Amino acid sequence: MEFLTPDKTHDESRQGEALVLEPVEKNNGRKLYIESYGCAMNFSDSEIVASILAEKGFETTSDYNNADVVFINTCSIRENAETRVRNRLKEFAGAKGKNPGMVVGVLGCMAERLKSKFLEEEKLVDVVVGPDAYRDLPNLIDRVDEGQRAVNVLLSREETYADISPVRLNSNGINAFVSIMRGCDNMCSFCVVPFTRGRERSRDPHSVVAECQDLFDKGYREVTLLGQNVDSYKWNASQLADGSEPSGEDLGEAAEVVNFANLLEMVALIHPDLRVRFSTSHPKDITDEVLYTIAKYDNICNYIHLPVQSGNSRILDLMNRTYDRAWYMERVDAIRRIIPDCAISTDIITGFCTETEEEHNDTLTMMDYVQYDYAYMFMYSERPGTLAAKRYADDIPEPIKAMRLKQVVAKQQQYSYVRLQQHLGRVEKVLIEGYSKKSDKDYCGRNDKNAMVVFPVQEGYKPGQYANVLVERCTTATLIGKII
Ligand code: 5AD
Ligand code: SF4
Repeated sequence: MEFLTPDKTHDESRQGEALVLEPVEKNNGRKLYIESYGCAMNFSDSEIVASILAEKGFETTSDYNNADVVFINTCSIRENAETRVRNRLKEFAGAKGKNPGMVVGVLGCMAERLKSKFLEEEKLVDVVVGPDAYRDLPNLIDRVDEGQRAVNVLLSREETYADISPVRLNSNGINAFVSIMRGCDNMCSFCVVPFTRGRERSRDPHSVVAECQDLFDKGYREVTLLGQNVDSYKWNASQLADGSEPSGEDLGEAAEVVNFANLLEMVALIHPDLRVRFSTSHPKDITDEVLYTIAKYDNICNYIHLPVQSGNSRILDLMNRTYDRAWYMERVDAIRRIIPDCAISTDIITGFCTETEEEHNDTLTMMDYVQYDYAYMFMYSERPGTLAAKRYADDIPEPIKAMRLKQVVAKQQQYSYVRLQQHLGRVEKVLIEGYSKKSDKDYCGRNDKNAMVVFPVQEGYKPGQYANVLVERCTTATLIGKII
């Protein structure tokens, strides 16, 4: 069981989405089908994969039955994410039966976690490729064509795909994800990401700015800077040459160090009409400097995704989050002080190892303290190989995890509604993203705080433009109003 409120970092409506691109120039006559699961980083990676294969002449298709190469970009974060992928692979078996020349590949976190085990377990899989090995894909496909099975799950300390300009897949031409770093060094005890995505490394800021500028020039109006822990973004100019960390001696006066606040500012300065979002912030690393930068620029959205995971200090310690309840509250106070009108969302895990009823109540009271705008809420799911799996028993019975989750979800629904209602009567600047799902007489778009706003289409306004919308009412998840 999993509950998600709408947002872009892990958009439930996009799970399993197949990606389709414009026809390629040097068509090699073969068609690629690629489907993605999991976080925004995975969707962004699929764009890199499609770009690498488009270079080799692959066209994309939205029907896997017609494809020569079928890729599934996978997520390992919870067990049910993996189950979903396995079921999907069974569905591909039928297509492969009819077309034995079809190449089926597993990419992403599950590929990295299970490595060649995949080839043994799932007989129809020909290629297994981890998140740092996508440049090798054309070569791996060649190997499969020669009758071999191909695996590359090497993780890298340098790969950021900085020079690959991702093709934008299924894009509305308005919002885009831009990856600014890869991997994670935090080792939260429940999390498989440090094992599947490897060590943390930051991408050259100039390539980030160039990509965002290019998007803006093409008409995009919102970029979301992505990383597992954006607040630890750090780039030293002397890294440019070989990607390695400079030693103390190398860091002369000329060395340019770019931190996340600096990068945010560089992107914000591209154009006042380019909205800047980012995800994910880590409570231990988010600095006042970042908060002041958000406050300084109108086009940096007042919205921070700040996963708390638990409201109890003992559980946070077991989770290896390296902050406690008081620290987290202080960071929230700092956000409220420096950016008075800032939306905050979070991630919560219920039923982590040894969590008592009282400790669970600390999570509920934390929710009362912060009054989150949104939350992603999960029951703890033990992942093989993680620190928690090695050290602690997964000892909270499933029904108790589920009951705690239910309480957390109920409380969040209450606060999401309270937060939405605070917009009533206000005029919000909305970036029009397209027609609303329900009617082509209405537009939809988001305000600065990432809330969805629906309002009647008005002459003179097009998707990609900003509109000032008076919010008149709201449902549990959407604001409704009219352009003024
Ligand atoms: N079980 C449940 N939730 C998890 N998350 C990460 N690992 C697990 C796990 N093993 C959640 C965390 C994280 C979000 C992306 O997924 O809340 O912030
Ligand atoms: Fe996982 Fe923690 Fe890294 Fe997030 S910060 S990816 S939860 S290890």
